Amino acid sequence: MCGIVGYTGPKQALPVVLDGLRRLEYRGYDSAGVAVLPEPGADGLAPDAVQQTAKKAGVLANLTAYVDTGAVSLAGRTGMGHTRWATHGGPTDRNAHPHTDRSRRTAVIHNGIIENFAPLRTELENSGIELASDTDTEVVAHLLGAAFDTGATAGDLAASMAAVCRRLEGAFTLVATHVDAPGVIVAARRNSPLVVGVGEGEMFVASDVAAFISHTREAIELGQDQLVVITPDGYKITCFSGGEADYRTFHVDWDLAAAEKGGFATFMDKEIAEQPAAVADTLRGHFDGTRIVLDEQRLGEDELRTIDKVFVVACGSAYHSGLVAKYAIEHWTRLPVEVELASEFRYRDPVLDRDTLVVAVSQSGETADTLEAVRHARRQRARVLAVCNTNGSQIPRESDAVVYTHAGPEVGVASTKAFLAQITANYLVGLALAQARGTKYADEVARDFQALSEIPRAVEQTLELLEPVRELGRSIADSKAVLFLGRHVGFPVALEGALKLKELAYMHAEGFAAGELKHGPIALVEEGLPVVVVTPSPKSMPLLHSKLLSNIREVQARGARTIVIGEEGDDTIAPFADFLIELPRVPALLQPLVSTIPLQVLAAEIARTRGYDIDKPRNLAKSVTVE
Ligand code: F6R
Repeated sequence: MCGIVGYTGPKQALPVVLDGLRRLEYRGYDSAGVAVLPEPGADGLAPDAVQQTAKKAGVLANLTAYVDTGAVSLAGRTGMGHTRWATHGGPTDRNAHPHTDRSRRTAVIHNGIIENFAPLRTELENSGIELASDTDTEVVAHLLGAAFDTGATAGDLAASMAAVCRRLEGAFTLVATHVDAPGVIVAARRNSPLVVGVGEGEMFVASDVAAFISHTREAIELGQDQLVVITPDGYKITCFSGGEADYRTFHVDWDLAAAEKGGFATFMDKEIAEQPAAVADTLRGHFDGTRIVLDEQRLGEDELRTIDKVFVVACGSAYHSGLVAKYAIEHWTRLPVEVELASEFRYRDPVLDRDTLVVAVSQSGETADTLEAVRHARRQRARVLAVCNTNGSQIPRESDAVVYTHAGPEVGVASTKAFLAQITANYLVGLALAQARGTKYADEVARDFQALSEIPRAVEQTLELLEPVRELGRSIADSKAVLFLGRHVGFPVALEGALKLKELAYMHAEGFAAGELKHGPIALVEEGLPVVVVTPSPKSMPLLHSKLLSNIREVQARGARTIVIGEEGDDTIAPFADFLIELPRVPALLQPLVSTIPLQVLAAEIARTRGYDIDKPRNLAKSVTVE
């Protein structure tokens, strides 16, 4: 989940690297650092030349402020930088990357976890090397420095890196430079992202194309266990084993503006506003007038027809998207659907076989828990279909099929537009299954797709109604806690509302199935406690609606301040709502695509009022590549 960027070319490296880091800061922001190779003077490189580094704990601005003081020289045309999300070792200056070897001539930055770092550290300590940090990364710097200085790989940075990588276990993207290899950057990957940017007379490596698309749109995605050597004139990619590498070149077709704030105060505000497009773009091209068509579908209809059970595996908001989808997929297909937290899935020995479809939902496509769940499912011979927002990322690569959510880059750490796009894509999977199994007639599938196609308009209308919700957020920002209640598809929406509030406003928030309230949680209700209730349509779900009204009365009678989300024209709820949010009417199963939006806005406004950065909640990172 850290952000990595490297540059070699004719320009000064520091501004290019810092600009790249700024675009990657969403990947981790508890420390940042850079290393720039010194350049030879008229008499060549000074014999005592070392890596020029600067690193600072905290957000990137701390590093840039330090660099701007001119306290360290960072002149040079080959450099790399890192924004960190701490795994081994706290977020301090000392643990910030880059790390150097004893001679300070080798520098390394790293994203991921070196699982066998403890024995490697002991080995280094036994050979008299004192480590300067608590990180797993530093062992790589020492091993690489030693491999470059002596032995079979001496003087060859790529061969040294390959030799070191063969000794490592775990997940890593590594980028390294050496003072005695001017103009050269070596980068390697296993289970962690790495892309190469191919410019004219300049080259880049990064964890995400956002770092270099202002310079070039020509990119290369490295395969597993591969390494690349870049110089200003080109690149060479090989496998850790030394063999020839199979990699993918591509042209980046989204522009920089898509990754910028576009006039909004925060990325999250922008991404909330982009939700109509996220849903519409995710639907685009998936209906050919008669049938649902999925993207990279290496599972034919015959295979889908044999599926007798579905698991959805995911984490956090993506997991909530699966909980929503369960209602629709079971209803449409009559297949049992289990929704599992990916981090629990493989440890409880789930019953899987060739006729099981595992739907792995992930915005980043890098989430380690979900990736491991995918691998477990495939080992058990289940078919795996990824629902993913990141083209070419690891989870779709390791799946049998993929449906991309076309939400565009999501930079705000809290998931918003990706969540709506995930629900949309999950519905497409449900319709494709129903079509293959014949549990829906063609005209029903067409009608459901049409209903989905009308959702972007309802999302737009919802976005126009939210100013009072912002005011409400400001007025309840000093509450101790907020409860969220819902039934049916409103229940996962309540869970998502509570998650948004926890992660953005650092506030105690819980989501409950409203019917469960009387079995315990009602004890939490006290005078003035805000309770948000997501109500179903009185027309399409009259029984459930009346039960939910009783639940609202129960909390109101105990002094709660009720904030009720309902359908426009539902007069029955007004008497029980201290605050009423009326949303456009949409089909019952699709309601989460509109009812989630006020909860996102409420959480964002509460967090803002409490003075927090809603794009970068504390302790969180955008893609979590450790288990
Ligand atoms: C919450 C949030 C996280 C992610 C979760 C899974 O707002 O963003 O809960 O949903 O970490 O991430 P992906 O979808 O990248 O696998």
